[in-house]
Amino acid sequence: MEDKTKKVSTSSKGLLQSEELYEYLLETSVYPREPKPLKELRAVTATHPRAMMGTSPDSGQLMAMLLTLVNAKRTIEIGVFTGYSLLLTALTIPDDGKITAIDLNWDTYEIGLPIIKKAGVEHKINFIQSEALPVLDKLLETVRINHLRLLVLDRG
Ligand SMILES: C[S@@+](CC[C@H](N)C(=O)[O-])C[C@H]1O[C@@H](n2cnc3c(N)ncnc32)[C@H](O)[C@@H]1O
Repeated sequence: MEDKTKKVSTSSKGLLQSEELYEYLLETSVYPREPKPLKELRAVTATHPRAMMGTSPDSGQLMAMLLTLVNAKRTIEIGVFTGYSLLLTALTIPDDGKITAIDLNWDTYEIGLPIIKKAGVEHKINFIQSEALPVLDKLLETVRINHLRLLVLDRG
């Protein structure tokens, strides 16, 4: 059977502009470190007409490293598509971590959802089907209200 997971990335998406060097790094460093659920997600995304929108596995591993370095626990995912960066975030943050994931489309999220469920990380995700800005405004308002409450309690 054809291995779809190796067809998604192209050099134009990465920092390295030599196709051969990029392929070498993918084969020797990136693919061997890529968790199985992310490989699966890449495979199911590969046949989508807009597969190029998905996060590339090398960028994904940089993101996972940054999430680990800052001990991220609560994150916001703006633009989910089929969920590659969402799943890598969910796999990286602690079990009680939370991700607010926003996308206009439920249909593309649904493509990766069975893999997210199988990986046992769906409980960390609150998917909101919406335009991102109103959701972000609402989140900001909640933060402001909670901040004011804390100030009042502090002075009370
Ligand atoms: C580049 S893709 C995201 C890739 C994804 N992070 C991944 O790892 O595969 C962009 C996504 O943003 C969504 N999108 C575009 N404009 C949006 C908006 N204004 N509000 C919410 N989602 C939006 C699109 O539906 C699309 O799924």
